[in-house]
Amino acid sequence: MLLPSYIEARKRTKSTVEKEDYYIDSSFKEIGTGKKYYIKTYGCQMNEHDSENIKAILEELGFTESKSYYEADLVLLNTCSIRENAHNKAFGMLGRLKHMKQLNKNLIVGLCGCMAQEESVVNEITEKYRWIDFVFGTHNIHRLPYVLKDRLSSGNQKIEVYSKEGNIVEGMPVKRENHYKAYVNIMYGCDKFCTYCIVPYTRGKQRSRNKDDILNEVLNLVENGYQEVTLLGQNVNAYGKDFSYSYNLENLLEDVAKTGIARIRFMTSHPWDFTDGMIAVIKKYDNIMPNIHLPVQSGSSKILKLMGRRYTKEEYIDLFNKIKLIPNVSVSTDIIVGFPSETDSDFKETLDLVDYCKFDNAFTFIFSPRIGTPAAKLKDETSLIEKENRLHILNERVNKYFLENNKKMIGKKVKVLVDGISDKKGMIYGYTETNKLINFSGSPDLIGKIVQVEVTNAKTWSLDGKLC
Ligand code: 5AD
Ligand code: SF4
Repeated sequence: MLLPSYIEARKRTKSTVEKEDYYIDSSFKEIGTGKKYYIKTYGCQMNEHDSENIKAILEELGFTESKSYYEADLVLLNTCSIRENAHNKAFGMLGRLKHMKQLNKNLIVGLCGCMAQEESVVNEITEKYRWIDFVFGTHNIHRLPYVLKDRLSSGNQKIEVYSKEGNIVEGMPVKRENHYKAYVNIMYGCDKFCTYCIVPYTRGKQRSRNKDDILNEVLNLVENGYQEVTLLGQNVNAYGKDFSYSYNLENLLEDVAKTGIARIRFMTSHPWDFTDGMIAVIKKYDNIMPNIHLPVQSGSSKILKLMGRRYTKEEYIDLFNKIKLIPNVSVSTDIIVGFPSETDSDFKETLDLVDYCKFDNAFTFIFSPRIGTPAAKLKDETSLIEKENRLHILNERVNKYFLENNKKMIGKKVKVLVDGISDKKGMIYGYTETNKLINFSGSPDLIGKIVQVEVTNAKTWSLDGKLC
């Protein structure tokens, strides 16, 4: 058993990042023959992309995908730790799986992702969830064949979670669900240690993928007809900071733009590392989408300081104003309410900031204390009712601006990458360059293509349009 350790996970040394190539021995390749797997993914795009790797690994072992967990021989939960409710969802699902396992003794159940990196979760699994067959962490996805084989041959619960700072594994297979939009990891981990956030503990040290590995992956996607890549990382603006040579997100965006891929997105950005050079490159290339996700978290400099965000409200606004000079740009954000010691007047500053920035989209949350993070130890006197009230007021405010911004689009012609069939008959939907959802009448043959659409109507979370 290799259990997670927060003491180890918190460490950041100067040690160089280990690079490994994915390899599995041919003797593993029949573990899953005739068996089906089902993966339930919680959380962010990083987890979704990890699941694409996990699916491909399982298929190399002979498993085939099942669309329902009722029919599966192996069920794997790829979990998220970011807030309490993500935890609750995964534990709720475990309750259902326990019942299924009582009915079918051969069912294999595994847990991976961020919760697997949490000491308290894994302790609970070893004590109260002995029936879970195996657990592996975010640093050792490539070890899944070994973990599974060990579990099957020994019959014992197998737990293998690394808490070292993290490695980079190249050459893992990937089963992409989408054939025109792809996620590409450019970096892993985070060194920002915002005081509320569990990610630096669950995902390890900030480490950037080699530029050539990224560019080769993008070129391969272009050759295979992909239209859009989203460059992924917990804090993509810090890309390259761990290199011994000078190469950063500005350089990478430019090189990816030159591959000719139709659309480039990137997320998530931390305001601290956003440079003027990056803004210039986004302006320069039409295929870098003018849509920036720039989490602010709070409009109060006092709370930002307690959050360890390393910028003040004024500094955020300065950066926001520079970004708004990118033609036709849309800006979205994340906001936390109810952080310990947030007063009514701190919250009002958040509302004022929203009034100033008029975000195109915002993800809003109530602070959720995460065991092991500094903010979880802060005294918190605000009641849950008050926090819910703040969230409600905030949501009304951000929604007002979503609608206002969307209304400004009416009559404009926009480029849309068609994504799928809408619930309404005869309608399809896609996303504009600024990442707005738009529904319009059209043939499903257009899915995966970029078309021109005129915006005819605006709602809070979507637009309507017609092909033109
Ligand atoms: N409580 C509430 N929200 C959180 N986030 C991260 N950690 C927490 C937490 N402990 C939010 C932040 C971040 C987004 C991905 O999730 O707003 O930007
Ligand atoms: Fe978490 Fe993002 Fe802060 Fe990193 S930058 S600690 S991922 S909120």
